[in-house]
Amino acid sequence: MCGIVGYSGDKKALGILLSGLQSLEYRGYDSAGISLKNNNDIKTIKTKGKVTDLITLIAESNINTSATVGIGHTRWATHGSPSSVNAHPHYTEHVSLVHNGIIENYRSLEKFLKAKNINKTTGTDTEIIALLVDFYLKEHKDFKNAFFEAIGMLKGSFAIAAISKGFDYMMLAKNESPLVIGLSKNETYVASDVSALIEYTHDFIFLEDGDVALINKDNITIWDKDKKEVKRNTTKIEWSKEKAQKGGYKHFMLKEIAEEDEAVRNTIQSRIDEDGNVFLNDEITIDKKFLKNLDRITIVACGTSFYAGLTAKPIIEKYTDIKVDVEIGSEFRYYDYPYSKNNLFIAISQSGETADTKEPLKMAKSKGIKTLSIVNVKESAIARLSDSCIYTLAGPEISVASTKAFTSQLAVLYMIAFYIAQIKNYEAAKKLSKKLLEIPSLIKNTFSQTQETIKQLADQYYNYQNFLYLGRGICYPLALEGALKLKEISYIHAEGYPAGEMKHGPIALIDENTPTLVVAHPKEPFYSKSLSNCEEIKSRHGKIILVSSKKADIADCTIEVPDIDYDFSPFVYIIPLQLLAYYVALFRGNDIDQPRNLAKSVTVE
Ligand code: AGP
Repeated sequence: MCGIVGYSGDKKALGILLSGLQSLEYRGYDSAGISLKNNNDIKTIKTKGKVTDLITLIAESNINTSATVGIGHTRWATHGSPSSVNAHPHYTEHVSLVHNGIIENYRSLEKFLKAKNINKTTGTDTEIIALLVDFYLKEHKDFKNAFFEAIGMLKGSFAIAAISKGFDYMMLAKNESPLVIGLSKNETYVASDVSALIEYTHDFIFLEDGDVALINKDNITIWDKDKKEVKRNTTKIEWSKEKAQKGGYKHFMLKEIAEEDEAVRNTIQSRIDEDGNVFLNDEITIDKKFLKNLDRITIVACGTSFYAGLTAKPIIEKYTDIKVDVEIGSEFRYYDYPYSKNNLFIAISQSGETADTKEPLKMAKSKGIKTLSIVNVKESAIARLSDSCIYTLAGPEISVASTKAFTSQLAVLYMIAFYIAQIKNYEAAKKLSKKLLEIPSLIKNTFSQTQETIKQLADQYYNYQNFLYLGRGICYPLALEGALKLKEISYIHAEGYPAGEMKHGPIALIDENTPTLVVAHPKEPFYSKSLSNCEEIKSRHGKIILVSSKKADIADCTIEVPDIDYDFSPFVYIIPLQLLAYYVALFRGNDIDQPRNLAKSVTVE
C-alpha cells in the first residue's frame, strides 16, 4: 500500500511532491523520501518515519529546491524492515526509482545481477529494479530502452516511476498496482492514487496492466503490454480529496472489502514461491528444531482476530499434527493455562495494541513461552513484544469493522501451518500451499459475483431486528464472524451458532421475524446436514439465506460463491457476509466506518 507521487513541469517539484505524499498519509506508511532532478544531477533525501520527518530533513539539507522534476514515495514495508536505507527512492549512479508492489522473482534477478558483480545493498526488492535499469543503461546508453529491458524481466505487482541523469523524461510502468497520470498545461503528474493529485488536476489517465509510459512536462507516450504505442482515454474525476482517499467508494469499509484480493496477494506473494515453498525464515526467528517438535499452539486474540484463529485451527491441526487451542484474550488473561513443554503462543491483532491480547502475550513471555504475533500495524506494541512477528500486508484498515485484516490473518495462519509442515517434511502440505496463490483472484471474483445480489438482499432484510447465522465445520467460525460484522455496524442482534446446535435451544428463536443465514460449503456430510437444519427452520416459517457454491431450493435466496476447495473456503465464503453487513447498515443509514460505541483499537481492558 505504498504511495507514489511524481512531477515534471514548470513549477518547483518539491512542494507538489510533499503535499501529494501527505495526501497519501491515510494509507499509512513507515518511511518516506523524494528525489529531485536538476539538469544532470539527482539528489535524494529519505527517512524512516513520517512525511513531517522528511520535511525537517529537507529543511536541514542544502538540496537545490528549484528542481522542476522529481519523484516521491511513502513506504508501507513489505520487503525489508522500515528504515531510511530501505526507504524509497532507491538510486544508483544514474537512476532514481520508486515502486509500489511486490517483485515475485526478485531472488532470481538478484542472482542475475550478482553474476555480473552487481550487489544489492538494501533489504528491498525495489533496489533490484533500479540496479537492472542502471545495468541496461550502461549497455544501451538510452534510458527508455534500458527501462523497457528491465521491466520485461519483472514478475509480480508493480507501479514504478523512474528518472535518470542525462535524460529529460520520466519512465513509468504499471502491473497490478495502480498508477495514474495527472494532466495539466505544461506539466504532467503521476501518482499511485488520485487523492495525491486532485488539488492540481481533475484530468487523469489510468494506466493499464502491462503499460509503460514516457512523460515530461509536455509529452505523454504510452505503450501497451505488447510494446505497441497506444492512446489511453482521459477521465475527469470531480472528487473531493476525502472521497478520493476512499477510492470513490462511499465508505472505507467497502473499499477495504474491495481491496481484500490485493491485501491477501501482498501478504502471501513474497512468502510463497511458484512451487509452493513457504519462506518465513527471516520473520520467524524461533528455532526450526523447536517448531518441528511443537506439541501445542495456543492462539490468543479478540473479536474478528479471534475468529481468524478459530477458522485456521483445523487447518493448522490437519497439516501439522499439532494440537491448537484458540482462546479469547479477555478471558485467557485471568486463566492459569497449563502450557505444554513445547508450546508456541500466537497473538493475532490487526492494530497490535489490543490490551486484552497484549496482556496474555506478556504473561506467556514471563513464563518463558515462545511467542509469535500476526499484526497489521508496523512497530505496534504486540509486534514489538513478541519474539517474532509476521505482518499482514493488508495496508491500513481504517474502518472499525475489520475485513481485509481477517482474510490477511488467515493467509498468514495458513502459511504458518504450511511452513511448519515443510519443516516436518509433510509432503501433503506442499501440494496445497500452492493453492494459496490462487486465492486473491477467487476473492476478487467473489466480490464482483455477489455484490449486486447482496445489495438487493440487504434491501429486503435490513428492517429485521434479529438474525441467526449457522455453519458447520470450517464454516462455523465464519458464521460467528458474519454475525459479529452484522452486529457491529447494523446494530441488529445477530447470533452465530454451530448449525448442529439448533435443536439444543436456538430453534426456539425461529419464526417469520428471525431470518437465518446458513454458510454451507458443498462438502459432505456438512452440506446435507445443513440442509436438514434448513428444513427445521422452514417448518417454523423462518426465512433462509444460503451462502454456498451449490444452490438449494429450500433457501429463500442463495448467494452463490465460486467453487473452492473446502480447506480454502473461508477466504471466499466470508466475503458475502462482510458485504451483507455493509449493505444492511447502509440501508439503515448508519455511520458505517465509525459505528456507535466502538473504537478501531481497544487499548483498555
Ligand atoms: C472487528 O470488526 C472489531 N472491530 C473488533 O472485534 C476487533 O476485531 C477486535 O477489537 C480486535 O482488534 P485487533 O485485531 O486490533 O486486536
